[in-house]
This record gives sequence, structure tokens and C-alpha cells, in this order.
Amino acid sequence: MAVSDCRLIDLPRIQDPRGNLTFIEGTHHIPFEIKRVYYLYDVPGGAERGGHGHKALHQLIIAVSGSFDIHIEDGTDSKLFHMNRSYRGLYVCPMIWRELTNFSSGAVCMVLASEYYDESDYYREHSDFLRDVKGAQ
Ligand code: TYD
Repeated sequence: MAVSDCRLIDLPRIQDPRGNLTFIEGTHHIPFEIKRVYYLYDVPGGAERGGHGHKALHQLIIAVSGSFDIHIEDGTDSKLFHMNRSYRGLYVCPMIWRELTNFSSGAVCMVLASEYYDESDYYREHSDFLRDVKGAQ
């Protein structure tokens, strides 16, 4: 699992003068079943979220409102995404370190996740993450 396995996914969009609609079906539009949804909101200017990796979790991260940046890295490669479309998500596979920054005022970051919350799936220390990704190479 590497940065090259992560990708932007354009979700279905029903455009309508009454307002647009986007929907997401697990395994149809994203490569995993959805077990959990969480969202970040009221993020103060300058705050950083993320700053961790996951051992087995698949996620799709969407700026449903406003914008923010996502920096991902796998111990070798890294990439920066500017998220600012309600119909576009970043698929983040397991074993990727991610940092979310540069939140606009009123931004809402919605995350679809393949598993229930499990603290033992997290790498909270970057050094632990690097040790395991380097060890696997
Ligand atoms: P944390 O992982 O630090 O958020 P971020 O993704 O911005 O780094 O999570 C913050 C707190 O919320 C932490 O105590 C764990 C808790 N939490 C849950 O209880 N359930 C969840 O689904 C998530 C994502 C976090």
C-alpha cells in the first residue's frame, strides 16, 4: 500500500436548480464497505488534524463544505491534495500517514471509513509508522 494507491474519486452528481446532490454507495463508488462516518467541523484557523496512520483502515475524505489540504506519505513518496469540491473524495488506503491543514472558515471534512473506531489500528507516532513501512519494504 503506497501513495500511488491513493486517488481522487469523483462521486455521482445530480445537478439540479434546486441544489445539487451527491451519493456514495459502499463498494460501488468507493473500494470498501462503509462501516463508519465521522466529520470534522468548527476547525479553528491554523489547526492541524490527522497526523496519524492506519494499519488496516480504508477511508474516503471529502470536503463537503469549504476547503482544506491533505498531505499523504508512505515513508518514500508523498503528495499534497487541495480538497474543495463536495463531489470529490480522496481515497486513502492503509499504511499512509496523513495530515490535514489549511482549513477554510466553515469547512466540513467528512470521512467514510471501512471499520468501526479502533484505537489499536492507529499509528500515533510517526517513528512507529516509519519503522513498520520501512520494515515491510
Ligand atoms: P483523532 O484521531 O485525534 O482526530 P484526527 O483525525 O483529527 O486526528 O480523534 C480525536 C478523538 O476522537 C480521539 O480521542 C479519538 C476519538 N474518535 C472516536 O472516538 N471515534 C472516531 O470514529 C474517531 C475518528 C475519533
